Amino acid sequence: MKQTILITGGAGFIGSCLVKLMVKNHPDYKIINLDALTYAGNLENLTEIENAPNYQFIKGDINDRPFIDELFKVHQFDGVIHLAAESHVDRSITNPLSFIMTNIVGTVNLLNAARHNWGDFEGKRFYHVSTDEVYGSLGATGLFTEETSYDPRSPYSASKASSDHLVRAYHHTYGLPIVISNCSNNYGPYQFPEKLLPLFIFNIKNEKPLPVYGDGKYTRDWLWVDDHARAIDLIYHKGKDGDTYNIGGHNEWMNIDLIHLMCDTMDDLLGKEKGSSRKLITFVKDRPGHDKRYAIDASKLKDELGWVPSLQMEEGIRKTAEWYLENSEWLENVTTGNYQKYYEKQYADR
Ligand code: NAD
Ligand code: DAU
Repeated sequence: MKQTILITGGAGFIGSCLVKLMVKNHPDYKIINLDALTYAGNLENLTEIENAPNYQFIKGDINDRPFIDELFKVHQFDGVIHLAAESHVDRSITNPLSFIMTNIVGTVNLLNAARHNWGDFEGKRFYHVSTDEVYGSLGATGLFTEETSYDPRSPYSASKASSDHLVRAYHHTYGLPIVISNCSNNYGPYQFPEKLLPLFIFNIKNEKPLPVYGDGKYTRDWLWVDDHARAIDLIYHKGKDGDTYNIGGHNEWMNIDLIHLMCDTMDDLLGKEKGSSRKLITFVKDRPGHDKRYAIDASKLKDELGWVPSLQMEEGIRKTAEWYLENSEWLENVTTGNYQKYYEKQYADR
C-alpha cells in the first residue's frame, strides 16, 4: 500500500462521499474510516465500497484518548483527513457541550496522537475539514477569503474555529504538517434530514409544514457534495503545508428562493399541481443568532490547484430531490434509527 489514510467521520454525509471517492480513486491506498456512528453516521451510506480490499471501517470515538493513541500505534497512518464532528447549528444551540467535546477535545486527541506517533513528521499530513461559518456573517456584499478574520457566532462555529486554531497551533508550535479547508453549505444525497434541504424534501413528501426561520432572507453559498470531496482529495495531495483553502460554489441563494426552487422541483417530480408544495411554507421563530449571509471566494483553490465546481444548482437540486425520493427506505431508516440494525447485522461480530 502506498499510503494508509485515516478518515474520521466517514459514515456521515460528506465523509461517506469522500471515503467512496478515495477508495475508488486510490486503489493503492488503504482507507480506514473511523466513526462513532452517532445519529448522523450511517454505514448504509457506504454499501458500494464496504467490501473493497483497500477499505476498513472501525467504530470508535475520537473522544476516547487511549483508543485513538492505540489506533495510531497499530496502523501507522501516513495521513489523517479529519471530518468527525457535531455538525448541526441548531443542535449546538440546545447542547453546546457535545460540540466542545467532539469538535475541540476530539480534534486535540487526534492532534496529540499524530504528534506523538509520527516521529519526525516526514511525509505526514493532518488535514482538518472545516467550515466557512468560522468567518462569521457577511453584509449584503463581500466574500470570505482565506485572510478574513475569524468571527464565529454560534456554539458550532465557535467550536470549529477553535479546532482550526488548535490545528494551526500544532503546526506552528510542534511543526506538525497540516492543511485546513473551510467550505460553504454542502447539499446532495445521504444528508441527515435535519439540515434544510433533506428536511424540506422529507416534509414535502409527507405533506408536513416547511419551517422557514425568520423571514427566510438569509443567504448561503451552496456546493454539490461530490465537488467538496473532489476538492479535499486535491488539497490533501497538492495543498501547501500549513495553508488554508476556501471551498465554495459561487452559488449564493437566499433561503426563501431556494425553498421555492425545491418546492417547484418536488411538485414536478411528484406530479403535483404547480404551487402545491409552496403552500406548506410556514414562517417560524428565527434561529437565535442566525448568521445573515455566507459567501466564499474560492479563487485560491482555482488558481493554485485548478479546482472548479461541476454542477449548476437547478440540476443539483433536481438530482438531490430525485435521490431522496428514490431512496425512501434510507430516509425511513435514518429517521427511525433503523440503520443501527443494519450496523448490527453487517458489522457487530467483526
Ligand atoms: P455529519 O453530521 O453528516 O457527519 C459527522 C460524522 O461524524 C457522523 O458520521 C458521526 O457519526 C461522526 N462523529 C460524530 N462525533 C464523533 C466522534 N466523537 N467520534 C467519531 N465520529 C464521530 O457531518 P457532515 O455534514 O458530513 O460534515 C462533516 C465535516 O465537514 C464536519 O467537520 C463539518 O464541520 C464540516 N463541514 C460541513 C459542511 C456541511 O455543509 N455539511 C460544510 C463545511 C464543513
Ligand atoms: O456553511 C457551512 C455550514 O452549513 C456547515 O458548516 C454546517 O455543518 C451545515 O449544517 C450548514 O450550516 P447551516 O446552518 O447553514 O445549515 P442548515 O441546513 O441548518 O440551514 C441552512 C439555512 O436554512 C440557514 O439559514 C437556516 C435555515 N433553515 C434551516 C432549517 C434546518 C430554516 O429556515 N429552516 C430549517 O428548518
